[in-house]
Amino acid sequence: LTAGPLVGKRVLVTSGPTHEPIDPVRYIANRSSGAQGSALGQALVALGAEVVFVTGPADVPPPKGVQVVRVQTAREMQQAVQQALPVDAAVFAAAVADWRVATASDHKMKKTAGGLPVLELEENPDILAGVAQMGAGRPRLVIGFAAETENVTEYAAAKRRRKGCDWIVANDVSPETGIMGGSENAVVLVTEENAEPWPRMSKSEVGRRLAARIAETLGS
Ligand code: C5P
Repeated sequence: LTAGPLVGKRVLVTSGPTHEPIDPVRYIANRSSGAQGSALGQALVALGAEVVFVTGPADVPPPKGVQVVRVQTAREMQQAVQQALPVDAAVFAAAVADWRVATASDHKMKKTAGGLPVLELEENPDILAGVAQMGAGRPRLVIGFAAETENVTEYAAAKRRRKGCDWIVANDVSPETGIMGGSENAVVLVTEENAEPWPRMSKSEVGRRLAARIAETLGS
């Protein structure tokens, strides 16, 4: 695109889950369709941004017009993010697995009589916090997502401070909301100044509004 408020701006989006191998056929993952990340990527492209879209194995295809980097694990995602820098804004919509298996097996683990396997876990890097807290070269705008099931705004505000990012897009993913895997989202945009609840709307509309806010902020 040659027009739009984000022409000349480079924006990173992470999306989808990560898969952490247990063995060649099994993995640990979070639930994430990648729908909100794809909707946001599409909206950013529509405003003229150059979008680097780092995605785990999502259900939803990546948007058209982005530079797609496909990854499986959190560590691969972190590397891809580092390679994508510098960017003007970075949005972390991926549902990154908090832990990986310390010693993933090269062979399919077999059921053996009289014993259950024990999986030792290690903590994955916090990709968002790493970028939010970098000194020189930090993107002007660093945005995280928070999926909560209670006290959404409070938890998100605490998360924003802890991670050091500028905004948190928080949503309630309690099963009864139907948000997880659904086409709608109800978010609260938490900034340093306030917490702004948005009405329930399609994930596409959340993407467009968020892209518009990013454009507004980068343009000011
Ligand atoms: O701490 P929590 O996982 O709830 O934080 C969610 C936010 O942090 C999301 O924006 C997610 O993409 C990001 N995150 C990350 N790397 C991790 C864990 C979460 O970038 N290892």
